[in-house]
Amino acid sequence: MANATTIIFLIILFAPLFQTVRVQAQQQTQKHSNISLGSSLTPITNPSWLSPSRLYAFGFYPERNGYLVGVFIVGIPEKTVVWTANRGNPPVPGNATLALTSEGSLILQQPQTQNISIAGITQPASSASMLDSGNFVLYDSNHKIIWQSFDSATDTLLPGQILLSVPDLISSVSETDHSTGNYRFGLLPDGNLVSLPQSGIALQYVYWQSGTTGSGDNCTLNLDVDGHLYILNATGNNIHNVTDAEPPTKEAKIYMVRLDVDGIVRAYSHTLDSNGKWSIWWNSTMNKCDPLGQCGFNGFCVLRDTNADCKCIPGFTYVNPGNWASGCVRNFTIESCNKTGGDGNGNTRNIITALQNTVWDESSYSTLQLSSRQECEDVCLQDCNCEVALYKDGQCKKQRLPLRYGKRNLDDTNVALIKVGTSDEPITKAIPGAQDNPPMKAKKKLHVDILIIGISLSALGLMVLAISGVLVYKNHVFLAYKKIVDEKWNLELGEEVALRTFTLAELEQVTNGFKEELGRGAFGTVFKGIISYNSKDVAVKRLDKVLTEGEREFQTEIKVIGRTHHRNLVHLIGYCLEGPHRLLVYEYMRNGSLADFIFTLENRPSWQERIGIALDVARGILYLHEECETQIIHCDIKPQNILMDEHRRAKISDFGLAKLLKPDQTNTFTAIRGTRGYVAPEWHRKLPVTVKVDVYSFGVMLLEIICCRKCLELSLSEEEIILQEWVYDCFEANELGKLVGDEEVDKRKLERMVKVGLWCIQDEPSLRPLMKKVMLMLEGTVDIPVPPNPTSFLSAI
Ligand SMILES: *[C@@H]1O[C@H](CO)[C@@H](O)[C@H](O)[C@H]1NC(C)=O
Ligand SMILES: *[C@@H]1O[C@H](CO)[C@@H](O)[C@H](O)[C@H]1NC(C)=O
Ligand SMILES: *[C@@H]1O[C@H](CO)[C@@H](O)[C@H](O)[C@H]1NC(C)=O
Ligand SMILES: *[C@@H]1O[C@H](CO)[C@@H](O)[C@H](O)[C@H]1NC(C)=O
Ligand SMILES: *[C@@H]1O[C@H](CO)[C@@H](O)[C@H](O)[C@H]1NC(C)=O
Ligand SMILES: *[C@@H]1O[C@H](CO)[C@@H](O)[C@H](O)[C@H]1NC(C)=O
Ligand SMILES: *[C@@H]1O[C@H](CO)[C@@H](O)[C@H](O)[C@H]1NC(C)=O
Ligand SMILES: *[C@@H]1O[C@H](CO)[C@@H](O)[C@H](O)[C@H]1NC(C)=O
Ligand SMILES: *[C@@H]1O[C@H](CO)[C@@H](O)[C@H](O)[C@H]1NC(C)=O
Repeated sequence: MANATTIIFLIILFAPLFQTVRVQAQQQTQKHSNISLGSSLTPITNPSWLSPSRLYAFGFYPERNGYLVGVFIVGIPEKTVVWTANRGNPPVPGNATLALTSEGSLILQQPQTQNISIAGITQPASSASMLDSGNFVLYDSNHKIIWQSFDSATDTLLPGQILLSVPDLISSVSETDHSTGNYRFGLLPDGNLVSLPQSGIALQYVYWQSGTTGSGDNCTLNLDVDGHLYILNATGNNIHNVTDAEPPTKEAKIYMVRLDVDGIVRAYSHTLDSNGKWSIWWNSTMNKCDPLGQCGFNGFCVLRDTNADCKCIPGFTYVNPGNWASGCVRNFTIESCNKTGGDGNGNTRNIITALQNTVWDESSYSTLQLSSRQECEDVCLQDCNCEVALYKDGQCKKQRLPLRYGKRNLDDTNVALIKVGTSDEPITKAIPGAQDNPPMKAKKKLHVDILIIGISLSALGLMVLAISGVLVYKNHVFLAYKKIVDEKWNLELGEEVALRTFTLAELEQVTNGFKEELGRGAFGTVFKGIISYNSKDVAVKRLDKVLTEGEREFQTEIKVIGRTHHRNLVHLIGYCLEGPHRLLVYEYMRNGSLADFIFTLENRPSWQERIGIALDVARGILYLHEECETQIIHCDIKPQNILMDEHRRAKISDFGLAKLLKPDQTNTFTAIRGTRGYVAPEWHRKLPVTVKVDVYSFGVMLLEIICCRKCLELSLSEEEIILQEWVYDCFEANELGKLVGDEEVDKRKLERMVKVGLWCIQDEPSLRPLMKKVMLMLEGTVDIPVPPNPTSFLSAI
């Protein structure tokens, strides 16, 4: 009914202009409006099926050296693509065929290639039609619509089209590339209409909204045939006019609303004359810097008149000046930072440059209350992990690069303190954020500021009261609202996690085509890589042996790993989740694994250093077990999984991955988990797996660290083959000296270490201490009772 009305309406509308067309269309109505089974199209000779009015066409259109399938407006000089099938698929060559097959499916066929389905239908179609509304539809045998292009909008809404909560409009990459681009526009389940960047689907990244929160379920966004865009609630009441201006109606027009490449929603109209052009009569925002992420990593958006301009943060240059999205990279070498821990003296030749009046996405790993900007600078300089700090109102937020979603905001007092390397020519210490805001002006501004402060102080008391009220309210609303956003996008990752997502293509570039293999582990293969924007060496772990189905489980685990921050854990930088591919990007550990140190004579660390390593590993495990938000049981502690950074500090790797191998961690024995020699006996006994399995593995490793030999060494004499047994024998016989050969060691410390090791490797899990106790015992804070024979509870393995 509605469709018939639309057709009639359009025919009347276009009557004066398309008179000849209409005659033709009437003659060809049979041919074009009822596409029967067995019809097909080819890109060059017969590219499309037209609507009766000949305004719209469905079929092949040329793009990027090939052809894509979609709906486009052909009745006007500027051919305009309004819908694309299978967005993201590459264009097909000229020898492809688009067929409505005799079996009733709509498919794209290419020689020697799998057929690609254009419409996801569960029953066969009986016919198809390109309607005058711009909607391409498939019918069943009762002429009921079983599929329509209007239901899977890409970046454009046409008159008569209705947008539900799913899908969203997603912008295109560019005018000539209609794959999915950087921005999203759609309804939340509560009726709020929002725009946000594709790279940050979370509430705090919403840069435009209609404000219609709380309008109930099942709201719809409607574009009227007369150009109005409005939101209806479930009972069909107009609750919000999105386009707050009147559409131009002087002459006959065609309308469309599009989420443009730059993230702004615009309402277009087009007069129906031969030299007509699209004109914009409404847009969602006038500020082209509003859409987050215009400028790529480490760049920020600056308005120049009404146009967006991008600049790099000080010391950085655009990777590709022609393409802002490519972001900025360092134009200097960062001085290596070789401070250990949080107490030493950084003493690098890096300095801080300040960039004022810019706002960024805050993804700090540590926020400090500091009273001055200078303190914030010093703190960042002394922290090797700190690449930039955001200082505002006494808060110093330490972050890693890249910075994203940057834009100039002259009203914001935020200062970005960026760590840069010194070069021979002096770098000006404070680079003002704006060229139009030179230092001279800044001075003048200071006086004004003081004046303002004076005036403001009197109002402060009142304001504090007001603000605290607002904050309590806002926080409450925010939490309730966050739930709605999460509900829609199944959001698991985002706000608090400063993890970066990578595309597979990016990681191919980072690893130079997965060229340099660093090793293979229980989960997959590790490759060396380098990230260009901060010249950071990384290790890219390609997970081959994890479940590739559950995206959600994967994201949940990654989120848990991403939240861990400890100096004795290898830091996860980001990940890639694309189709079946799962890759993790870690900081690169220059010095290999602990196994390379303790099992080779040349690298063997001193006794003192070994004690330090044991303590470091114990600290890391303690953090995993007791201090991070979600308890993590490692399940595979062994020297190969302890990596050494450039300062020979031990860091645990591969934590948090055990769960990805099989869904339930705590109950079932899985052969893949754990490594022979290090696995606790309960693995074999089908007992519940607890943190004590890590304590066992740590105990075995501790004995290895003490003795600098593997837990199983078949080349040794019979009584020495199994390390655990040999150590206990020596302990019982009071011959601990044998364990370290001729190495000079502190006898009391040796005994202490051995006793801790023996307690950890008790067969009976309940006898093993928790990591907290292990720490205390290693440090010598508590007395250690004499350990029993580890296997005295043995019930035969
Ligand atoms: C479309 O064509 C098929 C066969 O050619 C016919 O059975 C069907 O009734 C037609 N439908 C319409 C709406 O004309
Ligand atoms: C189809 O076109 C592609 C690209 O032009 C070409 O590589 C391929 O060989 C063609 N296939 C056939 C069967 O002609
Ligand atoms: C593609 O579809 C056509 C028509 O249904 C069929 O004849 C052909 O075998 C299919 N090709 C492949 C590779 O599945
Ligand atoms: C929204 O739609 C769902 C599914 O059609 C329905 O169950 C629910 O009752 C609707 N809500 C309202 C408020 O109409
Ligand atoms: C829709 O809006 C109207 C008017 O604002 C209101 O009376 C009605 O209850 C709303 N319907 C729903 C389902 O919220
Ligand atoms: C939307 O605009 C129409 C006029 O175009 C007006 O009648 C209606 O009341 C407006 N609705 C709202 C919710 O403002
Ligand atoms: C957006 O619309 C306003 C009027 O509503 C207009 O002044 C402005 O130039 C438009 N901006 C863009 C970028 O189209
Ligand atoms: C750094 O940038 C400046 C200009 O911004 C340029 O002249 C210089 O060549 C760049 N240096 C490097 C190492 O790229
Ligand atoms: C620290 O870095 C400086 C400069 O890169 C280097 O000369 C020095 O040897 C390093 N110190 C250590 C302990 O690695």
